Amino acid sequence: MKLTLAIDTSCDETSAAVVCGLEVWSNVVASQVELHKPYGGVFPTIAKQAHKENITPTVELALKRAGVKIDDVDEVAVTVGPGLAPALEVGIDYAKKLSRQYSLPIRPVNHMEGHVLSVLAFPEKKQKRPSLSIRRQEARKRSQKKLAEVKLPALAVLVSGGHTEFILIKNLKLKIKNERHPKPARRHPEFILGLSRRSRESRITNLRDSETSVLRSDVQNDSEFPDRKPRLSIDQFNSSAFSYTKLGQTLDDAAGEALDKIGRMLGLGYPAGPVIEEFAKHGNPHKYKMPLPMTTSKDYNLSFSGLKTHTRNLIENTLKEAGHKSLKKQEIYDLSASVQYGVFRHILYKLSKILADYPEINEIWLGGGVAANITLRKMIRKTISSHFSLPTSHCTFRVPYSKRLCGDNAAMVGVTC
Ligand code: KG4
Ligand code: ZN
Repeated sequence: MKLTLAIDTSCDETSAAVVCGLEVWSNVVASQVELHKPYGGVFPTIAKQAHKENITPTVELALKRAGVKIDDVDEVAVTVGPGLAPALEVGIDYAKKLSRQYSLPIRPVNHMEGHVLSVLAFPEKKQKRPSLSIRRQEARKRSQKKLAEVKLPALAVLVSGGHTEFILIKNLKLKIKNERHPKPARRHPEFILGLSRRSRESRITNLRDSETSVLRSDVQNDSEFPDRKPRLSIDQFNSSAFSYTKLGQTLDDAAGEALDKIGRMLGLGYPAGPVIEEFAKHGNPHKYKMPLPMTTSKDYNLSFSGLKTHTRNLIENTLKEAGHKSLKKQEIYDLSASVQYGVFRHILYKLSKILADYPEINEIWLGGGVAANITLRKMIRKTISSHFSLPTSHCTFRVPYSKRLCGDNAAMVGVTC
C-alpha cells in the first residue's frame, strides 16, 4: 500500500500529512490565523512568507508523527488549486523539490475535491505501532473496507470560506495502490529533510495536529509535474478520484465568507464562523427575521449577499432605535444566532429541493470549514430524516471524522490523489 506525503498551502494554513490509502498517519496544520487577524482576512504576501517559513518544519513533523522517514514515502501529493496563487506556489515548489531530491512522483490535487473526499478519511489506530509493512497492510484492508461501505450516488455539500456548492458524485475511481519497488536514490546534498532540533523548534509556530482518512487512485505520469495552473476545477466533471456533476453553487459570497463579513460588522474578529457558532448558543435564532433568498429560482444555486445587507440594516436600525453607539452583548448573541440560522436555512432549503428531485441519492457528505458547525450538522440530519422517513428509505450522512479535517488540511489532499 502506497505511502503518500501530502502538502496543502492553498490559503492560510501550512499543512503536511502522511496517509496510507484512506488512513491518516499524521496531519499537521500550522495555522496563520493570528498573523492575518489584524487584516480581517488573508493577506497574500504575509501568507506566502509564513508558508515559506513553516513548510519544512511542518513536513518534518508530519513524517515524525507518522513514524516514517522520507525514504519510506512513495509519492508527494500537493494542492495545485483553487487557492491564493502566491500561497499555492510555496507548496508546489516544495513538492517539486522533494520530487527531484527523493525521486518521488508528484500527484497534483484539486483542493475542493480534497474537501469532498475528506469525509472518507479515517485515523490510524493509536496502538503500539507494528512494522511499516504491517501498518501498510492494515491500512490497505481498512481502506478497502471503508470504500466498500460507500453507496453512490452521494451528494457533497461543500461549505467553506471560498465555496458553497452541491456536488453529485456518481462514481469513485479511487484505487488502493501498491508501493513502489525499488526506490531510486537520487540526492541533492543542499536539500535534505532533517533540520537540527533547535532550528526546527524555533520555526514551528502554532502547529496543530490532527488525523484524517485517506484514499487514492492511479493518476498521472509519475515524475512529470504538469503546470502551475490548477489542473482541475470543481466545474470539471471528471477528476482522477471521482466523477461528479455540480448541481448548484453560490452566485456571490460563500457561506463562510458571509459569516466572516457579518462577523466583522459585529466586531467578532477573523475568522468569525466559529465565534458566531459560540455566540449563537446564547442567542435566539428567531429574534431577527432573516430573508430566505432565491426561493423562486428553479435551480440549486445560492446567494448570501442579501443576508449580509439585511444584517447591516438590522444593526443600524437596532442602534438607531436604542440610541446607543454599540450593540449590547445580548443583541450580538441574538444577531449571531439569527444570522447563522438564516445562512443555514438557505442551504437547507436548496438541499431539500435536491433531495426531492434526486431520490436516488444514498449519502450526503458535508465538507469544508463550515462543516465543523454543529448546528449545521443537526439541521442537515433533520432534513435527511424528514426526506427519508419511510422504513425502507435510508441516507447516510458523513462528516469528516475530526473537526480539523473540516478546515484546510493536507490529509484530505493525500486521500484524493
Ligand atoms: O475550508 P476552510 O478552512 O477554508 C477555505 O477553503 O475557505 O473554511 C474556512 C471558513 C471560514 O469562513 C470560517 O469562518 C468558517 O470556515 N468556519 C466556520 C466554523 N469553523 C470555520 N463557520 C461556522 N462555524 C464554524 N464552527
Ligand atoms: Zn478549503
